[in-house]
Amino acid sequence: MRFLPGTETPRVAIIGFGYVGSCLGVTLAERCMTVTGIDTDEALIGALRSGRCPIPEPGLAQAFARLAGSPRLTFTTSYAPAGTADVVIIAVGTPTGPGHRLVTDQLDEVGRNLAPRLRPGQLVIVKSTVPPGATRDLVAPLLSSGGLVAGRDFGLAYCPERLAQGTALRQLAELPVVVGGYDPDSTEAAVQFWKQALDVPVQALPGPESAEIVKLATNWWIDANIALANELAQLCAPYQVDVLDVIATANALPKGEGRVNILLPSIGVGGSCLTKDPWLAWRAAADRGIALETVRTARRVNDGMPGLAGQLIVDELARLGKPAPRTVAVLGVTFKSNTGDLRNTPVAGVVEVLRAAGVRVRLFDPLVDPADVEVRFGARPERTVEDAITGVDAIAILAGHHEFHHLDFARLRTRVAMPCLFFDGRMYCPPDTVADLQRLGYGYRGIGR
Ligand SMILES: NC(=O)c1ccc[n+]([C@@H]2O[C@H](COP(=O)([O-])OP(=O)(O)OC[C@H]3O[C@@H](n4cnc5c(N)ncnc54)[C@H](O)[C@@H]3O)[C@@H](O)[C@H]2O)c1
Repeated sequence: MRFLPGTETPRVAIIGFGYVGSCLGVTLAERCMTVTGIDTDEALIGALRSGRCPIPEPGLAQAFARLAGSPRLTFTTSYAPAGTADVVIIAVGTPTGPGHRLVTDQLDEVGRNLAPRLRPGQLVIVKSTVPPGATRDLVAPLLSSGGLVAGRDFGLAYCPERLAQGTALRQLAELPVVVGGYDPDSTEAAVQFWKQALDVPVQALPGPESAEIVKLATNWWIDANIALANELAQLCAPYQVDVLDVIATANALPKGEGRVNILLPSIGVGGSCLTKDPWLAWRAAADRGIALETVRTARRVNDGMPGLAGQLIVDELARLGKPAPRTVAVLGVTFKSNTGDLRNTPVAGVVEVLRAAGVRVRLFDPLVDPADVEVRFGARPERTVEDAITGVDAIAILAGHHEFHHLDFARLRTRVAMPCLFFDGRMYCPPDTVADLQRLGYGYRGIGR
């Protein structure tokens, strides 16, 4: 094989050791590869070296702890190990800027540092999410500026990362890997690497452009599907119909190769991917005179949900006859359930609406560093659930972390100000739980429920 010398355990350098890089790094190191995490963030590298994992992904800190001191996983701010690795994986951030265009600063910097260090025979894999054409037209020229040519001297492939935060480590060990090589030899090398590294199915595509579009198509579909669920919820509410009944029943219908698969409504879509990737597809299309209306519509619907959810809470408090000033305990402030990630969290929009309506908001989230909550929300979070809910007019569960599913709302009933609203933003309480809550005197309300 021209790229990737056939060693049993290739040395891997991962450039960009944030969420994706770290999760992939520990996964490969636990499978006996020698991995070096390279990141320009000195604080991140310092924390990892001192045994602290600042990335709030379930199981990640434990995986770092298992590998502590092992030569199989090291961290550095230097690019030197990229020059000696067999495989270099790029996982830096690819944010969007004005007009939803890719901001290439991080990739540019990778190119400047990596190009002069590349050696013939190495395989470079791009994991960062990029628009169609970027591997061939942006990354390959950047890397070739050191004199070596992609596809001739070194291998280059785009292999999108498709993990979901919250279950990243499990998914990395299971999900099929998509490979789009710059040329057939690069594809062959990347397929071989992933089969050896993760022992998962590998789907090879004709080129990086196909793989780039697969990644965007997936997140475009997820965002559009959630937008449909969010609008369906709005349709169900005035009919006193439970949107979850509708979705469960609709989803039983065989359709195409599978079934109808409507996802769940919620207080909104956040994170670093679903809020950006559909726009990357939209921008790429718009630059070619094609209007992707479903992207615009889905983004608008989902961006509107925090405002709708906030207003729903305010309206329900009024309906319950709660006098002002009202207090709401927000449990869970992250962008979705079971993650500690605050990036683009829709909870911020809900809290904004509540505060604008004169509601006092108390925050609690066991998965987030309190200092980060304070920076994001301008208020120090409560230390315990009990502190958060004492005397409140509403409990709003806006991220349905596992911990919240085990709360004893019969016991907590004595602490809140009854009648207390139970707002279900992402718990998806089953009907018997809803009935129990109502028997206890809570007013239950969810999105489309
Ligand atoms: N987070 C996810 O769930 C997820 C899922 C799939 C794909 N992705 C994509 O993967 C990429 C990384 O996402 P993330 O969430 O891990 O981002 P992140 O911000 O957590 O990590 C990126 C890391 O790259 C580092 N970095 C920036 N410039 C660098 C440089 N020149 N050299 C070395 N390191 C540099 C940053 O310091 C940061 O630690 C993005 O393109 C994202 O769209 C993310």
